[in-house]
Amino acid sequence: MINEVVLPRHMTAYRLTVLPGDGTGKEVAREAQKILQVFQEHSPLDFDITEIPCGGEYYLETGMEWPEGSFEHCRDNSDAILLGAIGWPDAKLPNGDNAGGSVILGLRSGLDLYANIRPVKLYSGVDHKIHGNYKQVWDSKLVDMVLIRENTEGLYHPLLRRSALSVAGKSPDDPIIIEKFPGLEGEVAWDPRPISRKGSQRVIDFGFKLANRRMEKTGIQQKVTCVDKSNVAKGCRLFRKVFQEVASEYPELQTHEAYIDAFTMWLIRSPEDLDVVVLPNMFGDIATDLASVLQGGLGMAASANIGDNHMLFEPVHGSAPQHAGKNIVNPIATISSVQLMFDNLGSKHHDKDAILCAELLDRAISEHLAEGEIITYDLGGNSSTSEVGTAIADRCIVLLKEAFNN
Ligand code: IPM
Ligand code: MN
Repeated sequence: MINEVVLPRHMTAYRLTVLPGDGTGKEVAREAQKILQVFQEHSPLDFDITEIPCGGEYYLETGMEWPEGSFEHCRDNSDAILLGAIGWPDAKLPNGDNAGGSVILGLRSGLDLYANIRPVKLYSGVDHKIHGNYKQVWDSKLVDMVLIRENTEGLYHPLLRRSALSVAGKSPDDPIIIEKFPGLEGEVAWDPRPISRKGSQRVIDFGFKLANRRMEKTGIQQKVTCVDKSNVAKGCRLFRKVFQEVASEYPELQTHEAYIDAFTMWLIRSPEDLDVVVLPNMFGDIATDLASVLQGGLGMAASANIGDNHMLFEPVHGSAPQHAGKNIVNPIATISSVQLMFDNLGSKHHDKDAILCAELLDRAISEHLAEGEIITYDLGGNSSTSEVGTAIADRCIVLLKEAFNN
C-alpha cells in the first residue's frame, strides 16, 4: 500500500463567505473561487467557503436582499468576506433605494469596516489610459499609490442617510417640503454628511501606519496626502485638523494637504507624486473610480474594507448589467481582491503562509499581465472572463508547486 504524504495544514480553516451578488459580480466571483480552489489544493492554506446569494436579482426573485441570517453569518462565522458586485436595473426597494444596497452598505456600517483600501498600481504590460502607451516607458514607480476612503460616515452614514425626516417630521422616504428655509423653496432633498473626530482619527491613523509599512517594505520615502474640501465644509475642516494631529505622531513621513477639486487634477497629471491618500467617504468613492484609469480601468481596481474585527474584499467596479452573461469582463479586480484577502488574513493571523500566498498570487497576476496574451477587451484583448481566470489559476499552480514543493 502506498502511503499518502500528508501535508501540514493549518489547525483551522479560514472561514470565507462569498457573496457573488448581481450580474457580472457572479462571473468574477466564479473566477475568484477558481483561484481559492487552487490555493486550497496546492498551498498549506485551508478554506471553509460558504456562498450566499444576494443583491437586486435575488430581490426580484425572492423579495429579500439576501437570505435571513446572512448578515449574522458574515458577522459571526466569517474570517473574511468576498463580494462580487451589487446592483440590478429595476431592482428597487419600495422606498426607491437600490435593492441589495443593504448588503454592501449594511456590511460596511454593520461590521464597522471603517477603512476602504483601494490600491492603484499600474502593472507592467498594462496600458495607462491617460498618458497613452506606457509599454515603452513603463516604470513601476510611476503609478503605485493607495487611496484610503473613510467607509462608515459622511453621506453614507447608515442612519442619518435617511433621517432628513427630522427636519420635515415625515417618513424618511417621503420627499421633504421645507416651508421656511432660507433660499430654498418647494421640494428639497437633504443629505446630512456627518464627520466625526473618532471616525477620522482611526482611518487617518490607518493611512499613516500603511505608509510606514510601505516605507519599510520598499525603502522608498512615503508621503501621506489628506484630501478634503476644508475651505468650504465644516466636516472636512475637522478631518484636516485630525489629519494634522495624527501626522505629528509620524515625523518620519511626509505629508501633503489638498482640496478635492485640485486633487483630481494632480491625480491625473502627476500620479507618480502620490503614495498614500486619505479621503472622506464620498470623495473617496469618486476619486477611486477616476484613479482606476491610471491602472488600466475599473477591471483592474481591487479593494479591501477593513475594520478592527472584520474584513471584506470586493472589486471597485459594479455589476455592469450591460455585460452580464457574456463572460467578457475582466476578473483581475476580483482576483486582486483575493490577493488583498490573503495579505490581510496573513497580517491579522500572523500567518506566514498566507503572506507568501499573497505574494505568489501578486506574482502570478503580474507575470500574466506582462506576458499580455490572455486579456479581456478592456485591456485590448479578446479573451473571456473564464479564460483569464483559468490562465492565472494555472500560473498559480506552477508557482505554488515551486514554493511549497507540492
Ligand atoms: C463603491 C460603490 C458603492 C458605493 C455603491 C455600489 C453603493 O460605488 O463601492 O464604490 O457607493 O460605495
Ligand atoms: Mn464607487
